[in-house]
Amino acid sequence: MHRKMAARELSIQVDGKTIGCEPGQSVASALLAQGIYRFRTSPNDHLPRGPFCMMGACQECAILIDGSIRRACQTEVAEGMRVCLKGASA
Ligand code: FES
Repeated sequence: MHRKMAARELSIQVDGKTIGCEPGQSVASALLAQGIYRFRTSPNDHLPRGPFCMMGACQECAILIDGSIRRACQTEVAEGMRVCLKGASA
């Protein structure tokens, strides 16, 4: 028996591109579901960084969300939310 996928009911903007996501989903989970693994670059060595712990401890998922640096794994998606993956490494 196949489980029916939940309808995608929300959309967020990621660097100007609209992606669909589900209510209750974290921003990190929405990005990973789109195949986006590189969330930012490290400030010193400029290497790609992405979520690691998915429970709010490592800070590797800290990105610009609606104008503030926030942990993507601890931030629930909201309709029209703006996520910036560029320039969020400061
Ligand atoms: S993935 Fe570790 S704090 Fe978000």
